[in-house]
Amino acid sequence: MIEVKMSNSSPEIILALDLEDREQINQVLQATGESLKWVKVGLQSFLRDGPSLVHELADAGKRVFLDLKLHDIPNTMAKALESLAGLPVGMITLHACAGPEALSRCSKFAKEAMPDVTLLGVTVLTSTNQAGLEAIGINDPVEDQVLRLASLAVDQGIGGIVCSPLELPKLRQALPQSTALVTPGIRPANASSDDQKRIMTPAQAKQAGANYLVIGRPILAAPNPRMALESILGELSG
Ligand code: C5P
Repeated sequence: MIEVKMSNSSPEIILALDLEDREQINQVLQATGESLKWVKVGLQSFLRDGPSLVHELADAGKRVFLDLKLHDIPNTMAKALESLAGLPVGMITLHACAGPEALSRCSKFAKEAMPDVTLLGVTVLTSTNQAGLEAIGINDPVEDQVLRLASLAVDQGIGGIVCSPLELPKLRQALPQSTALVTPGIRPANASSDDQKRIMTPAQAKQAGANYLVIGRPILAAPNPRMALESILGELSG
């Protein structure tokens, strides 16, 4: 059974496989080796390569975070999960703004049919700012909306939340300790921030209560991806 980590221990690294093709994916898996336990497959790769990529990654010993951000009517979301039920994945994302009925149906389905899978709620995308929220009729501050959607998801049985590093302290405080917090926007102190703006170092995110750190370019674009990964793991355990 895939065990999803909770707080108070060192967060695990999830490598975001934001790559152009399977050859590049294979190269980075070779380069990072066994220290890499989790990988994130998003829409780009899943729509291109399909379930066979997920099987291949699982066969290579990796745990897969399938970041599909499902959002539809409750029946369609539950049926989408049914279609994913045979896949060897550990985490799947869905949009918390799909609402209580969809979240509840998905979490009930997952508990019965995919007991090894943790569903993660996505709240307000970090690409959405205050003006973006207002444009869709939500006048509350972004952080209130994040907290509202995160609490809604957890109340409906969703096991974890994807959040920005800066949201970690509030969510860690407001949500049960058993809720997994999964955080992108992580940059080691000496790494380029790329296009990420609200970032934390791995150690800061650990301190703030993250359970999983989603990291892409600091490892993918490093001259030596294995060394970059080992250095982050060292920072987390030190
Ligand atoms: O390369 P980098 O470390 O910035 O990659 C972070 C990963 O996390 C990417 O796959 C990106 O799409 C994802 N992500 C993010 N910010 C969010 C949600 C997801 O950077 N709010």
